[in-house]
Amino acid sequence: MKSTIAQLKSSFETALVKAFGEDLAGTDPILVPSSNPKFGDFQANVAMSLAKKLKDKPRSIAEKIVESLDVSALCEDPAIAGPGFINLKLKPSYIEGQLKAIQSSDRLGIEPSATPQKIIVDFSSPNIAKEMHVGHLRSTIIGDSISRVLSFQGHDVLRLNHVGDWGTQFGMLITHLKKVCPEALTDSESVDIGDLVAFYKEAKKRFDEDEDFKETSRQAVVGLQSGDADSLKAWGVLCEQSRKAFQEIYGLLDIELEERGESFYNPYLGNVVEGLTEKGLLEESDGAQVVFLEGFKNKEGDRQPLIVQKSNDGFNYATTDLAAIRYRTREDGAKRIIYITDAGQANHFAQVFQVAGRAGWIPEDVSLEHVPFGVVQGEDGKKFKTRSGETVRLKDLLDEAVVRARKDIEQRIADDERDETEEFVSSVAQKVGLGAVKYADLSQNRTSNYIFSFDKMLALQGNTAPYMLYAYARVRSISRKGGIDFEALAGQDVALSISEETELALAKHILQLDEILDAVEQELLPNRLCQYLFELSQKFNQFYEQCSVLKAEEPQRTSRLVLCDLTARSLQLGLSLLGIEVLDRM
Ligand code: ARG
Repeated sequence: MKSTIAQLKSSFETALVKAFGEDLAGTDPILVPSSNPKFGDFQANVAMSLAKKLKDKPRSIAEKIVESLDVSALCEDPAIAGPGFINLKLKPSYIEGQLKAIQSSDRLGIEPSATPQKIIVDFSSPNIAKEMHVGHLRSTIIGDSISRVLSFQGHDVLRLNHVGDWGTQFGMLITHLKKVCPEALTDSESVDIGDLVAFYKEAKKRFDEDEDFKETSRQAVVGLQSGDADSLKAWGVLCEQSRKAFQEIYGLLDIELEERGESFYNPYLGNVVEGLTEKGLLEESDGAQVVFLEGFKNKEGDRQPLIVQKSNDGFNYATTDLAAIRYRTREDGAKRIIYITDAGQANHFAQVFQVAGRAGWIPEDVSLEHVPFGVVQGEDGKKFKTRSGETVRLKDLLDEAVVRARKDIEQRIADDERDETEEFVSSVAQKVGLGAVKYADLSQNRTSNYIFSFDKMLALQGNTAPYMLYAYARVRSISRKGGIDFEALAGQDVALSISEETELALAKHILQLDEILDAVEQELLPNRLCQYLFELSQKFNQFYEQCSVLKAEEPQRTSRLVLCDLTARSLQLGLSLLGIEVLDRM
């Protein structure tokens, strides 16, 4: 189904050519949703932009466009306002037709992309032997949602977990463990992630204080990178340990990811150095192999280098990302590669992309996109910490969300004197609690810092998961009360009759989901989808307050039931693309 805005756009393109000749073929009509419903649903601003070119007044240009414009199947007669805005109001008959079309479609009329791409989303990516922190949680939640949207849009999405499983930290850790806890290097059952994190801290301390330890650790990394058997075995044990801890979080959040850590690219690191040498980009600086960057200066105002191979021959984070770009474009055939990390890594990616570009490693039809997000803060606006000042363990944080959600539910059940099973209570608590954590994160513009507040995310009012889940459950309760089989209804050829203001507003909103998903696909901002769902819930609630449904007369009754069903299905689809499961009752 072609979206309304796309249909209008092509009508405008035809009209522009008809009115002003082939010269204007392909002119963007600058169609936007109206800022005020008083003026209609859409507004075309093209007349203003053509004044100079056509040497005419925008208003007169607008008149000429309207004379050639045929949108009668979709809209009432276009109106010209102000200096030359063309206002369009959709006809109820058109809206009814569109609703019917999406009602019988299992994708709500949303067509998959006509140009599907192979897309890699690089997200979550915690580091071995360290605890996953709230930044990784943000990356996980945002990356999962973006991947879901892109898959739904018909793309072939590869979700990659670029785990930090290679590098200096292993040298440190292995050297330290050899001394204090050698069994940890051979038996993955002997320590857990908590122990590893503690060992890691000790090792880091020694590394910073003790020169000998530092040197031995560095040697250990080189040993690992060159394939020393004992080091590899120890490394494998450490990875296994962390993997278990990460998997626990992914399982809870229903996240699927393919692990392809930094170590995967180890065999290709040498090629990066060779390739850069061939292109004449590599230079020596203080014993290290570097590429001098364009547009990046250090504090002294000198050219800033990107180190590709350290003076001890070791490779680093940037080298790995360069190798990954080559692999992902050549072997995976990715056309769009999306990296989801905190904004603090913006320079890293800008530099790596620049070097890859200069080396000729980014084919013309490939785009590399860093998708940055802000830091997670506590309610005091400071860095997110526990009361005692320690970093919050993700598992504890998710557990607490569920415990709090459970308290709310138990309270409601007691207030309403409902009789519910333990199974019901715990399943609702789990879905609401985890859904709330995800939604709170996704509903913010990801580029801003995000204040973590259990009270806010679990509130029943406002732009929260519980509010959305309630709107969904409300529709389901209509179907239960009226004994309505929505699925059967979707298969029937029903006459729609939409006339009330709140019905029209809801109907038009339902029809916008495809445009929103297109926008999310382009801009990678899941908060656009959240905002859409929030407004959908609000519009549904307004409609439900104004219009009786089960008690209405026909043909309104069936027509309104269809609106209810479409609302529920849009909510369900939208929430599922955020990684949130709906509930029939809560
Ligand atoms: N492991 C990194 C971190 O914890 C994130 C990796 C992001 N992905 C990448 N290809 N560099 O900060």
